[in-house]
Amino acid sequence: MQRLTSLEELRAWRAQQQGQVALVPTMGNLHEGHLKLVDMARQRADKVVVSIFVNPLQFGQNEDLDNYPRTLDADCRALAERGVSAVFAPTVQDMYPRGLAEQTTIEVPGISTILCGASRPGHFRGVATIVAKLFNMVQPDLAIFGEKDFQQLQVIRLMVQDLSLPVDILGLPTQRATDGLALSSRNGYLSDTERQQAPLLYQQLKTCAERISAGEDAQQVLNQAVTHITAAGFKLDYLELRRHADLQPAQATDKHLVLLVAAYLGSTRLIDNLSFKRS
Ligand code: PAF
Repeated sequence: MQRLTSLEELRAWRAQQQGQVALVPTMGNLHEGHLKLVDMARQRADKVVVSIFVNPLQFGQNEDLDNYPRTLDADCRALAERGVSAVFAPTVQDMYPRGLAEQTTIEVPGISTILCGASRPGHFRGVATIVAKLFNMVQPDLAIFGEKDFQQLQVIRLMVQDLSLPVDILGLPTQRATDGLALSSRNGYLSDTERQQAPLLYQQLKTCAERISAGEDAQQVLNQAVTHITAAGFKLDYLELRRHADLQPAQATDKHLVLLVAAYLGSTRLIDNLSFKRS
């Protein structure tokens, strides 16, 4: 496995590759969820590049940029075992040579300012910008993202469509611990007690989906879930029922739906979602 740092090294590596190249963009501190993205990439492409870059442009001022876990050597060992061809781990200077304030950015309108975008202003601008830069640098045929970050995946799909980028975007279903908690690098911030409470979010999503599919009043079901979630000690950011296609508020006639939740447990912000259909 090649370890590439500079854009020059990456471009030299890319020029030698034949066949399909898949990109798995990450911020490192890899867990089994990331490694499943890699497995999917290996099934779909001849070569797999994993980028590891903690992107300052997608963190708000009071967020966890400085404390975000950086575990490059362990990540590289795990990726080598999983058959990755190259890791691209640039520095902030490599990615933003003119500085963050001067950086040209990409904003996908509408979807970037709702849900997580409302609570984290500028977050999806940072994500869209870094993903577009990575696509231009790596020139992958396809790129794979986890459905745990459902809104992020939709933002990226829209960006690719709007900018006619020649990259196929694939989503991998959320990987979960045996108790249902969605795998996330931020789970590492949870205390033992919080870790035991955390699966409640997914339990509530499943309960809501079952009851709404069975024809119960969606608003009533959501209100009860909010009561359970807050009573368990979470500080809820949002719990929303949205249209799967565009994340707009679900109407009674919409069939393909997604429940999305974001909540703080202590100082850790957890997100999850569940897609389902109602007849
Ligand atoms: O999902 C993530 O880890 C990040 O948002 C991504 C897509 C790697 C962009 O920095």
